[in-house]
Amino acid sequence: MFNLANRQYILALDQGTTSSRAMVIDETGSVVSIKQHPFQQIFPQPGWVEHNPTEIWSSQSGVATEALAEANLTERDIAAIGITNQRETTVLWDRETGEPVYNAIVWQDRRTAEFCDALRTRGEAAMIQAKTGLLPDAYFSASKLNWLLNNVAGARERAEAGKLAFGTVDSWLIWKLTQGRAHVTDATNASRTMLFNIHTLDWDEELLKLFCVPRAVLPKVVASSGHCGTTKGILDGVSIAGIAGDQQAALFGQMCSKAGMAKCTFGTGSFMLMNTGTKPVSSQNRLLTTIAWQIGDAVEYALEGSMLMAGAVVQWLRDELQIIRTSAEIEELASSVVDAGGVVMVPAFAGLGAPHWDQYARGALLGMTRGTTRAHIARAALEGIALQVTDVLEAMQMDAGVPLAELRVDGGASQNNLLMQIQSDVLGIPVVRPKNAEATVLGAAYLAGLAVGYWPNVDSIAQQWQVDRVFQPKIGAESRSKVRALWHKALGRAQDWEG
Ligand code: G3P
Repeated sequence: MFNLANRQYILALDQGTTSSRAMVIDETGSVVSIKQHPFQQIFPQPGWVEHNPTEIWSSQSGVATEALAEANLTERDIAAIGITNQRETTVLWDRETGEPVYNAIVWQDRRTAEFCDALRTRGEAAMIQAKTGLLPDAYFSASKLNWLLNNVAGARERAEAGKLAFGTVDSWLIWKLTQGRAHVTDATNASRTMLFNIHTLDWDEELLKLFCVPRAVLPKVVASSGHCGTTKGILDGVSIAGIAGDQQAALFGQMCSKAGMAKCTFGTGSFMLMNTGTKPVSSQNRLLTTIAWQIGDAVEYALEGSMLMAGAVVQWLRDELQIIRTSAEIEELASSVVDAGGVVMVPAFAGLGAPHWDQYARGALLGMTRGTTRAHIARAALEGIALQVTDVLEAMQMDAGVPLAELRVDGGASQNNLLMQIQSDVLGIPVVRPKNAEATVLGAAYLAGLAVGYWPNVDSIAQQWQVDRVFQPKIGAESRSKVRALWHKALGRAQDWEG
């Protein structure tokens, strides 16, 4: 094991879609300090979403040093670094200069929707799903990387000559943190690229061919928990020992460590994952099969329902409609009415994810009358966020063959009590919020700490998970099916809008 003398904390980096965060965590799983920086969202055309990789790095390294400073610590106090990140977002950079060749293409970006349609039309979907657990959609990295190689001048030639490196955001950060010494990704992030075979645990030749990706650009795939590099320069000399995509990290941080346990994280989007143990469950209901984590050589799998807009809907009400001044205000506004007054919001602003997978669906606000107020719209927004989760839960129960006993929740919007109550009402099962709702960051910290012996085993950290509040359903089956019927009617209107 590593020599942890005087290294009493774990540093967890959470590079999310709208902000970079860093937290110092102690042995009890408590947050000692936390820093967060939002960064620029770039929308060059409708449906396109980009980030500047240099800003991703500067904001992430900035908050890391600030979090240490706030806790009065230096890198010599850190036993290991855990990294968790927005998944699928695609970065391509020059191995020699370390300069990105283009902006990062973000997971929400729809520019490759037609390319993905063509894959389906050509009958490739079954092969892709069998190997990767994913469904052809612009969401995943492969078509984004293909776009970069085809559209950035000289990129394909340089990639084939081994001069360029591809990575999801974890790879990019580790490259920067190690000054180019490590070009790695972990199995969870690899499982979101659509180039990785989740059964053989290797990049897949047939998929590389399909997406015209030269093997020379790919990172080495490592365990989610295990030493994979040592920082150089900033935060010098610390072991990077945990990596996981943010949703898998949250599943781990929620201690859904046994098959059948599930969580939903309410971030930019909502992501519901159920641990299915050591066997991948192939979905018959348009969910994704994904790697939950790899600890040493042991791999566990999960079923995932990815919903592309959740907290981002509240931001939209705040920034674009300006009917609230802060995100937190939505709870009070939506609580001022007893229901949405017949208004339904379908949060398909970036198309629909699981289980509908409609790249051309668009956001819809339906059922308004002359008496509709901003409070009804706010409530409809919360209901829309919760109702899309019901469709995923239904699909997940069918795939897993067992009803879900409860749903653990985390992420920013899980602090909204009204949303959580609505969630429990429309699901008809208890919704359980832990005391520490920072599951994503905790998951990354736990994975890193386990690798270096900071925590001896999973059981020793499982005790840190504690309930804050349980939301029990307050409406009956009849009301539930009424609400869902209206939701499905609205969903039908929003689907295939751009087609
Ligand atoms: O798959 C996308 C997901 O990883 C993004 O998560 O938390 O940045 O919305 P978040």
